[in-house]
Order: sequence, then structure tokens, then C-alpha cells
Amino acid sequence: MCGIVGFTGHVDAKDILLDGLKRLEYRGYDSAGIAVEDDSRINVIRRVGKVSELVSSVGENDCLGGCGIGHTRWATHGAPSERNAHPHTSCAEDIAVVHNGIIENYLELREVLEGRGHTFTSDTDTEVAAHLIEEAYKGDLLDAVRSAASQMIGAYGLAVMCIHEPGKIVVTRKDSPIVLGQGEKGAYVASDIIALIDATRDVVVLEDNEFAVMTPDSIEYYDRIGNAFEPEITHIDWDVDVAEKGGYPDFMLKEIHEQPRVVRDTLAGRMSGNEIVIDELTLSRKELNYVDRVYIIGCGTSYHAGLIAKNLIEAWARIPTEVEVASEFRYRNPIITPTTMVVAVSQSGETADTLAAIRDARVKGAKVFGITNVLGSPVARESDGVIYTKANKEIAVASTKSFIGQVVSLTLLAMLLGRVKGKLTLPQTRMLFSELADTAEQIEYILQDTSAIDEAAKYFEGRTSALYIGRGLGEATCYEGALKLKEISYIHAEAYAAGEMKHGPIALLEDGFPIVAVATKSPTYDKTISNLAESKTRGATIIAIATEGDEEIKKVADYVIYIPRVRDSFMPITASVPLQLLARSVAVARGCDVDQPRNLAKSVTVE
Ligand code: M6R
Repeated sequence: MCGIVGFTGHVDAKDILLDGLKRLEYRGYDSAGIAVEDDSRINVIRRVGKVSELVSSVGENDCLGGCGIGHTRWATHGAPSERNAHPHTSCAEDIAVVHNGIIENYLELREVLEGRGHTFTSDTDTEVAAHLIEEAYKGDLLDAVRSAASQMIGAYGLAVMCIHEPGKIVVTRKDSPIVLGQGEKGAYVASDIIALIDATRDVVVLEDNEFAVMTPDSIEYYDRIGNAFEPEITHIDWDVDVAEKGGYPDFMLKEIHEQPRVVRDTLAGRMSGNEIVIDELTLSRKELNYVDRVYIIGCGTSYHAGLIAKNLIEAWARIPTEVEVASEFRYRNPIITPTTMVVAVSQSGETADTLAAIRDARVKGAKVFGITNVLGSPVARESDGVIYTKANKEIAVASTKSFIGQVVSLTLLAMLLGRVKGKLTLPQTRMLFSELADTAEQIEYILQDTSAIDEAAKYFEGRTSALYIGRGLGEATCYEGALKLKEISYIHAEAYAAGEMKHGPIALLEDGFPIVAVATKSPTYDKTISNLAESKTRGATIIAIATEGDEEIKKVADYVIYIPRVRDSFMPITASVPLQLLARSVAVARGCDVDQPRNLAKSVTVE
């Protein structure tokens, strides 16, 4: 939530900041701003709306100077407006601050600061940081930022500049990502590697309560008590083109098309000597054998990946598995014993609820394993072991390829647990692995011809509501399909177990009501068909995801989207692809911005 950038160097900062903000826009897009110092003052330009609004407001002769900071916002405290957009400045306008996170004690701090004569010009929590730094400033910006940070409770990634120390940016963080790097033109900071990868591939991931002082030719690092240290350098080896659409009209479609590669990369090196290998688990096979309960926690799409995994772990390893929304898990008192395994799933690795649940589970004595897509993210750092999904940077706010990476990773975990528990034989495991690998080709096949999906999407014109139904893994798949439709097309969509229709939702049906059904060949196929017939009788229009060759489905379905025959256990991987494409087609037809849906942000770092 919110993206921050900063640059100090030997060329003008303005374009570097604006380019960085464009790349960070997935983190929030309700307002944006930059601050650049010239010889005598800090020039601030802020605009409501997307970064493009800011870009078109910044004239050629505005904001000239080699040191600046920028921000793209997802509003928490204070409505999206120009006065609430960052950067925020001190009373004397000699200090400017951009912030990602939430300063929880801002009201108390604001009261104290107002009592000392500070005048606030926004409703944000962030502005207290500018005034706290102003209050503490005695000629050393680092000292002042350290003093301010020691008074703030909450989460923050902060970049601060001060006109009295030209060319300097001071940075710190707590529970909010910050990466830094030195390039040829100067020093860079951002919330995400993607904003500085054009300048350098060697970056430093700042840790909580650490500080960095950037000047054009160097970045110095200090710990919380002021000792300088040499940071660990992380080399980034993924391609710069992840930040480009590569000929696709939007990132979402590009990322959907990357899914075969994600399957292959996630499986690479995971089978050795016919055994599943997940070294990152940091538990011996003996310890894994003791696991008698699994909790999978996550939010949104990551939670849905967990729903799929529950079915597989219980089927193959016979370990009771519970899947919980992270925001609920942390406020319950779940039964955790030394033999409980907690798996935390998070694409971004910085979702506040998931992180809090991880901390809580560890305090209660559980071993926590993270499944995340982001190198060095808080989920990665705070887990006992981390499995990286190989999706690479995901930019569209609606998760697609990272979901496939999560499901494949969790499927491997289920197979490993099945082996360790002696429930899966070697030949069974080999066969499962090989069929899992085949899903890459099956997705490619689905992506070759999407005409049936586009045809079904037209049916949603003028519709305001839809139900997604399925049984078993079909039900789990429907939750993700329905989320995709609602988040990018704004059509209300709910997922139900098909067998539940007659216990309530069937009352919603009237002529033409759209039902999307996952009705692939599975042990419960016949039951699903009966449920669809009951709905059709009551006027529903059925859009079915079905198995190639299934002619019977045409008796109940108005639209059929075929996918290749696949073992039911792996069906969610392939069936999710047409559901993603369906949601996207509907959203595009409705003129929605599929990459940046309203009110959402890619990383949810607030509770
Ligand atoms: O980064 P995370 O996986 O922890 O994010 C969890 C959810 O916020 C995320 O999956 C969200 O539901 C997406 N918009 C889904 O497309």
C-alpha cells in the first residue's frame, strides 16, 4: 500500500521519480506527488488520481534538481485529495517526507505537536513525521529522523529530505519494505526493486529500524543506535521486462499467459531420485512425520490457494488441515501444538494480517513456513522456512500467475507430506509429479483459443450479479473465479458449493441469472450436473467449465468452455485459467481498468 521512491544524483531527479512511481503504481493509485530540491527550496507537486495525472501536471521547467522523493498513495488516513497526497512538509517547508505504512499513534503525536505550535495542513498520519523531524532537527537530518522514528508506533517506510542538507535523503523502515541501490547516475530508494532495477541489479533490502543516508555517490547504513554497518547485497537476476506489457494490452493478460512458465519454473528441481524435494522446509523427514495438523493462512487469492491445498493434503497425507483467513486466525485461539505446521501464503509477502498471524503462530510454538513470491519480503524473513513461488514480479492487482505458483507449490507440499506419512507410494508420486508438470502444456492449449470464453463473457453485458458453483475442488476453484470477476469487473459474484444451492441461493434465481459452474469430470460430476439442472429449471443461464469431449454437459449448459482432461487434483490449475480470462473479458467489455481496479492495492499492509 503506497509506493515511495527517492533519488539523489548527478542528473535531474524528476523523470527518475516519475518513472519509478509509474512502476510502483500497483501499490496504490489514488493520488501521487513528488518533491525536488533546488538551490533554495523544496518544490512539491501533488495531484489526485493516477500517476499519469501527476506526470501531465509537471511541466518541463518544474521541479528541476538532482535530489527528490515521490509517492503514489492508497489512502488510509484522510480522503484521496491533493492536500492529503504526499510528500508532506514541515511548517517551514524545509523538510519533506514520503511514507508508506500507518503511524498508529499519530493523533497523540499531532496533539502534542500542535500544542508546540505546529500547523498541520492535511488529515494524514504521515504529516506528524514531517513535524516530528522538524521539531528534532538540530543540523543533522539522520539524528532528527532517528528521534522521530523512536516516537512513532506502527509501520513506516520513510524517505526524508531537508533543504539545509542538499543532496541528502535519509531513509528508515519498520514493517514496510525499502530497497536501496547505487547506480551510475546516483543513489536510489524505493518500496520495490522494480522501481530501481533499470539503474542497478545489486540492491540492499533495508531491515526494520535500520537507517540509510543517501548522497549522490554513496549510501551509508546505520543500525538503530547509530553504528555504521556494511549491508548484505542482493543480486537481482530477473528480467527488466517484467515491468513492461510486452505487447499485451494489460499486465493481467500478460501474466495469465506467463502461467505455463510459472508451472515449469516452480517444479524445476523439485523431484530428485523420484522423491519430492523441498529443502526450504528446514524440517527432517522424521519431524515432518510428526506433523499432525496443518493450518494454511492467507488472504484473498492466497487463501483460495489454501482451500485447494487442504483437499490435497487431506487426500494424500491424511493430515487434518484447516484453512483460515489470516485476519481471523490472529484473533482466534487456534489449537497449536509443537506438531502443528502453519503455512502462510502471501504473494507480496507483506500483507499485514498474514504477517501478524505468522508472529502469533510462532509465539504459540508452531513452525511457520511461508510461501511467497517476493524475495526477502517480511513473510520470507519471519518464517522458519520459505518457499518462493516462481511467478516473478506480478504487477496486475488481480493475482493470476502468483495464484498458480502458490497452488503448484502447495501441491508439492501435499505430495511431500503424503510421502513422508507413507500414504503415497513412489510410483504414485512419480505419476502425480509428471501429471502436475503436464498442466503447463494444458494451460498453453487453453490459451491458444479463447473464443468460447469471449463468447460467454458477452453474456455478462448488463448483468449485476453471478453465482459460481462447483463441488470439491470445483468449489474451491469457484471462490477464486468469483473473486476475479468481482474485483476487476465490479459485478457482484459469490461462490457456493453446488450442493448448497437448494439451501438458500437458489432463491436468487430468475430468468437469465448467470451461473458459472466448474463441472469438469470428477467423482462428483453427476451430482454437479443435477445441481445445474435444478438451477436451469429455475431460469439460470449456465456457463460451464467442462472436460473436453463431454457432450452431456450441453444438455444443461448454455455456454461450454472446454479444458483438457486432467486428474481432478490438478483441475484447479487448469480450470482457473478460463475463469481468469472470463473475468478479464467481462471487465474489459465494461471499460474497467483491469490492472488497477478501484479501491484496491496490490499489497495490503494495513489491518
Ligand atoms: O500478497 P498477498 O497474497 O498476501 O495478498 C492477499 C490478497 O490481498 C490478494 O490475494 C488479493 O485478494 C488480490 N487482489 C487477489 O487478486
